[in-house]
Amino acid sequence: MNYHNVSFLASYGLSGQLPPSKRMEVAFAGRSNVGKSSLINKLLGRKALARVSAVPGKTATVNFYDLDGQIHLVDLPGYGYAKVAKSEKWRWAELIEGYLNDQERDLALVILLVDMRHPATRLDVDMVNYLIETERPFLVVLTKADKLNKTERAQRLAAIADEFPCGEDLTVVPFSAETGEGVEVLRGILEELAAPEDEA
Ligand code: GTP
Ligand code: MG
Repeated sequence: MNYHNVSFLASYGLSGQLPPSKRMEVAFAGRSNVGKSSLINKLLGRKALARVSAVPGKTATVNFYDLDGQIHLVDLPGYGYAKVAKSEKWRWAELIEGYLNDQERDLALVILLVDMRHPATRLDVDMVNYLIETERPFLVVLTKADKLNKTERAQRLAAIADEFPCGEDLTVVPFSAETGEGVEVLRGILEELAAPEDEA
C-alpha cells in the first residue's frame, strides 16, 4: 500500500446523494470531537487532508478519501454533540444511518472511535449494538491515548470490554494522532483487508 498516493474524493450532505461503493470501504464513526478526522490525517500521513477542529461538529458531511486506489476511507459526521441545531442533528443522523443501512455498500470494516479518557457513552453502546445486529465487522479505537498516564491507560484498557455488549471478543486499538501510536496497527489491518492472500 502506497501511503503517499492518497487523495480527497468527495463530500456528501444527504444520504440520497451517496454514490455506490467504487472500492472496498472502511468507515470511521464516533462522537463529535473524538478525533476521527485527525486519525484519518495521521493514517494517511497528511496534516490537513481531513478538516480538524477544536470545536465539535466540524465534519458535517460524509467525506471519502482514496488510499492508493485500493480502499476508500469514509469520515462520518460525529454524533452526540449537544450544541447543534436539531435540524443539523437530524441531518447528521440521517447521513450516518443512511450510510450504514445501505446493504449494497462494500463496507469491509467500521472503526468506532472512543475517547480513551472517558467511558464509552450510551450512543457508543447503541452504535455497537447496531453494528452487531447488522453484522458489520467493527473494531474500537481508543483515541487521544497521549493524554493518559500509565495508570489511567491500564484502567481504561481493563474497563472498555465491559462497557460494550461484545465483551472479550472486542478488538481495541489505543491510538494517538499526536505520537502516532496505533498507526502501524491500523495500517496493518487496512493492508490485510486490501490483500488478505499476502498474509496467508
Ligand atoms: P467532528 O468532525 O466534529 O465529529 O470531530 P472529529 O471526531 O473529526 O475530531 P477532530 O479530528 O476534528 O479532533 C477534535 C479535537 O481533538 C482537535 O482539537 C484535535 O486536535 C484533537 N485531537 C484529535 N486526536 C487527538 C489525539 O490523538 N491527541 C490529542 N492530544 N488531541 C487530539
Ligand atoms: Mg471530523
